[in-house]
Amino acid sequence: MKVILASDHGGVNLRKEIGSLLEEMHIEFEDMGCDCEESVDYPDYGIPAAERVASGEFDKGILICGTGIGMSISANKVKGIRAALVHDVFSAKATREHNDSNMITMGERVIGAGLAREIVKTWLETDFQAGRHANRIGKITEYETNETL
Ligand code: RB5
Repeated sequence: MKVILASDHGGVNLRKEIGSLLEEMHIEFEDMGCDCEESVDYPDYGIPAAERVASGEFDKGILICGTGIGMSISANKVKGIRAALVHDVFSAKATREHNDSNMITMGERVIGAGLAREIVKTWLETDFQAGRHANRIGKITEYETNETL
């Protein structure tokens, strides 16, 4: 599995913590930054990271900003991305099982590092259940690939 990791200035500390977790889990990943102390714009990091998941270069992506919201909105503009904003372990499991989410977003100003680690670990280790859920994902894919829109 290959994972892409990125944040804006509001998520630098948590991003580094998640990078350490990925190392501990022996998961291959690339950290796209930012290496910033100043304010940057989350779409400048979230959208390129999402494009690299949508292209197949990476299997999954983890995006962090202050709230996780801006990164979620940005990533979900990229066709093929199902980015879930998650701040609890139950949702981390459910969004893999039901939504086949390929990106997760979190807010450094919302949760602590310990919970974020549990969320990411659960999310990476949970498989999509397919079945009736695949039909629902298919409807989203059909909508976003409809060229008349
Ligand atoms: C940056 O101040 C903050 O707006 C950003 O990190 C994120 O929370 C936006 O959704």
